[in-house]
Amino acid sequence: MLVAPSILSADFGILAKEVVSICEAGADLVHVDVMDGHFVPNMTIGPVVVKAVADVAMKPLDIHLMVEDNTFFIDLFAPLKPKYISFHYESEKHHHRIAQKIRSYDISPAIVINPATPVSCLSEIVKYVDMVLLMSVNPGFGGQKFIPIYDKIKELKSLIEAKNPSCLIEVDGGVSDKNIHALKAAGVDIVVAGSYIFGHRDYAAAIKSLKV
Ligand code: DX5
Ligand code: ZN
Repeated sequence: MLVAPSILSADFGILAKEVVSICEAGADLVHVDVMDGHFVPNMTIGPVVVKAVADVAMKPLDIHLMVEDNTFFIDLFAPLKPKYISFHYESEKHHHRIAQKIRSYDISPAIVINPATPVSCLSEIVKYVDMVLLMSVNPGFGGQKFIPIYDKIKELKSLIEAKNPSCLIEVDGGVSDKNIHALKAAGVDIVVAGSYIFGHRDYAAAIKSLKV
């Protein structure tokens, strides 16, 4: 299992130090949640702060866009050379165009679906992305209760095996040592965890507990 700590739950007063700490503690990716106050009822950080994160991160960035205008934000963040940019299925009319746009920057495109969005909507786009992110909370806030989406993970695994076997499955929201084994068994490749990791004094121990 790869682990992507979500910096949404970090102490923003010492953000650079937090980013270095999770990288040293064994993070595989640094998950950055970008919210615009329109697609989700919360706002987070923009390119100035994400650049400061990119400057100190020793691991690749995994940027999760929760925004209405994907094109605008992709153009803002692409110069920071993240490994992934994920966009929400629900926020976009032109999924294929957005995936190609992200790839044109030499960044891996990923698509995200909310807990109530069915996996079947991914049947045509899955060929064009490198990762699918399944939300296991409603996007907008850290620290929410995990929604069991195990059936969706299994359904997605079958779709990926049929249409794009190298595509990865990421799960985001409420991940902890309580559900990590079931997520692994269902076929998840990468977990995002915010409050679980940053709520521990020992980040390395918390990350290790998710590397099953
Ligand atoms: C929610 C974000 C998540 C969030 C996860 O909208 O996409 O990445 O930070 O936080 P936890 O792990 O606390 O649910
Ligand atoms: Zn996220």
